[in-house]
Amino acid sequence: MFADVAGVGLHQQNITIMKPYILEKFGSADGIILTESPVPNPGPNQVLVKIKAVSIARRDIYILNQVYPLPPRQGIIPLSEGVGEVVTTGASVVRFKTGDRVAGNYFANWRDGQIDMDIADQLGCTLDGMLAEYVVLNEEWLVKIPANLTWEEAATLPCAALTAWSALTGPRPVLAGDTVLTIGSGGVAVFAVQFAKMIGARVIALTSKNSKFNALRALGADEVINYIDDPDWHTRVKELTGGRGVSRVIETGGIDTFEQSVKAAAFGAEITLVSSAGVVNNSQVMLKSMLGTVFVKLINIRPVFVGSRRSFEAMNRAIEAWNIKPVIDKIYTFKQVKEAYKYVAAGTQLGKVIITLN
Ligand SMILES: NC(=O)c1ccc[n+]([C@@H]2O[C@H](COP(=O)([O-])OP(=O)(O)OC[C@H]3O[C@@H](n4cnc5c(N)ncnc54)[C@H](OP(=O)(O)O)[C@@H]3O)[C@@H](O)[C@H]2O)c1
Repeated sequence: MFADVAGVGLHQQNITIMKPYILEKFGSADGIILTESPVPNPGPNQVLVKIKAVSIARRDIYILNQVYPLPPRQGIIPLSEGVGEVVTTGASVVRFKTGDRVAGNYFANWRDGQIDMDIADQLGCTLDGMLAEYVVLNEEWLVKIPANLTWEEAATLPCAALTAWSALTGPRPVLAGDTVLTIGSGGVAVFAVQFAKMIGARVIALTSKNSKFNALRALGADEVINYIDDPDWHTRVKELTGGRGVSRVIETGGIDTFEQSVKAAAFGAEITLVSSAGVVNNSQVMLKSMLGTVFVKLINIRPVFVGSRRSFEAMNRAIEAWNIKPVIDKIYTFKQVKEAYKYVAAGTQLGKVIITLN
């Protein structure tokens, strides 16, 4: 009976085609193609969402190039980061109603607590993602987005913002007065600067481009260092912290920066490992000397992987309460998906790259 009701409703609204992009062929943005498929009626626990904006993360480039740790499914609808408006709900849906503004959760089934392999499915990788005009998702996979954000701003949250949030909060939260080191000026690092300032921490930001210094300072970075011009940058970090080092590294540089991060870390610091892969030079690190430093300084190394739905909801409350505005580098249209992918792959952005359907 529900299917009839929903079906008539959708038909009356002329909603019949989903228009998803699918990842038909790996290795190049040209393998992402626009298709057409009928809009299914949402099942009892599902909602139909009209997508308003999506965002591309570096992980989506890794998925495209088949170097992502979780093997993607061929033919998948890409992208985990997407927001939209609930059009219709299944008969048993209790969390959302028509008109609600929602985002998908990266790990669709990770609600709270510790993640495990049985809840490791990801939107835009092993589950269909958000790069479509309409998507049908289980209500448990969604959160409401902050009221203070536009669709485009909110599309930055599901991967980039939530990762930064998990890196700064987590079991040992950053406290006011702590010094936080951020690396690069991509989606995760820029949110890390903003959230660290919200918490009251001091921020030292690294970037490979002098042209980004002013923007990082405007976002709240107290100090900015060019990590290409100054490859031994831990020395500068030590100087800036009175010889002590930083209490938290948001390690997004992976193998490129990890050795310097260990040297820049204070006694008892946490290096929150956001990435293991380097993007700049994939340098070979000296494991023996590095492990010695990790040990004698009692450094905690904590990997993070985006976050749970509960963390997403907590972050959204903070974003609303502090009116945090995500940083958008560039907005593309739904027709410009390939260009947007190529732009993100080049790695020159500050903040996030958006595709709008609004
Ligand atoms: N563990 C997790 O849950 C998680 C979640 C999200 C992302 N990640 C990982 O964290 C890292 C950062 O992710 P992101 O989405 O924030 O990345 P992003 O938006 O693509 O930003 C990467 C930044 O790296 C710097 N960069 C310098 N040279 C580059 C090059 N040749 N190619 C690409 N970037 C270059 C740039 O900053 P500057 O110009 O300032 O140097 C750039 O803005 C990635 O390795 C990603 O896979 C992990």
